[in-house]
Amino acid sequence: MIVVIGSINMDLVLRVPRMPLPGETLTGGAFRTIPGGKGANQAVACARMSGKVAGAQQVAMVGCVGDDAFGATLRAALVGDGIIDSHITTLPGVASGIASILVDDNGQNSIVIAGGANDLLSPAHIDAAQGLIEQADIVVLQLETPMDTVVHAIKLARSLGKTVVLNPAPAASLPDGVLELVDYLIPNEIEAAMLAGVSPDGADAKALAAALQKLGSDNVIITLGSKGVHAALYGGDYTFPAEVVQAVDTTAAGDTFIGGFVAGLASGMDEAESIQQGQRAAAWSVTKPGAQTSIPHLHELF
Ligand code: RIB
Ligand code: NA
Repeated sequence: MIVVIGSINMDLVLRVPRMPLPGETLTGGAFRTIPGGKGANQAVACARMSGKVAGAQQVAMVGCVGDDAFGATLRAALVGDGIIDSHITTLPGVASGIASILVDDNGQNSIVIAGGANDLLSPAHIDAAQGLIEQADIVVLQLETPMDTVVHAIKLARSLGKTVVLNPAPAASLPDGVLELVDYLIPNEIEAAMLAGVSPDGADAKALAAALQKLGSDNVIITLGSKGVHAALYGGDYTFPAEVVQAVDTTAAGDTFIGGFVAGLASGMDEAESIQQGQRAAAWSVTKPGAQTSIPHLHELF
């Protein structure tokens, strides 16, 4: 089983011809609400990329939604993808997380998040999910829920002997000693620079990965968008070029990569094959609008 611990958001999405300037009013395209949140997107990507064959991995999600209409819709979306929701807690009197997203004609986005229920995911919720986490082979985390909860969950997963995958997004620094508990760290360039404590300008992916390995993470896989992926694995350094695609909307491309990668590992692929599967899934996702609306099923890729 794959257990994803993290955020669940409703994305409030507007297409714009270009990003507005301060004080400017623009007319955008149609408004859409689309299920998102880095944690939920990664859970959906793990589920869709595991396929529906006999023996396929089960995926469970640990997180919080509010007791509003968005919360019910977000939970239903996850259940619709076959994700176990027994440890998604509905918090009374709290708003579900939302992300306000503008996407321009180049497919680039800008996002503002109101964490809502995600900000209340606590170490106690993680402890309550211990029985579920015990069943996991791989535990996947991001940084859209409180840092003390993330650290608590990483420590618990590690003490139970689980493989820990951390996507340190959005960019933040981590308390000392946490990277030593991570088996696969999967940042983008900006997040990698933040964790390594260097400026992202001109930072070289190979040097960043080496620095993060030195800080304790066994394997570091840096996603570089159209420049591909740089991976510093146990055995050495590898670069994986990206497929060339026409980007429509890059929202959740990183989440889709992680789902494809983790589903690959869980199905017994080696790291290189898993990275390539993640890249394939992410390339497909950037050609489609929205977060969970753009995540492929395994059978759509192969
Ligand atoms: O990674 C993409 C996600 O980030 C969006 O779905 C949005 O909810 C934000 O959390
Ligand atoms: Na997309």
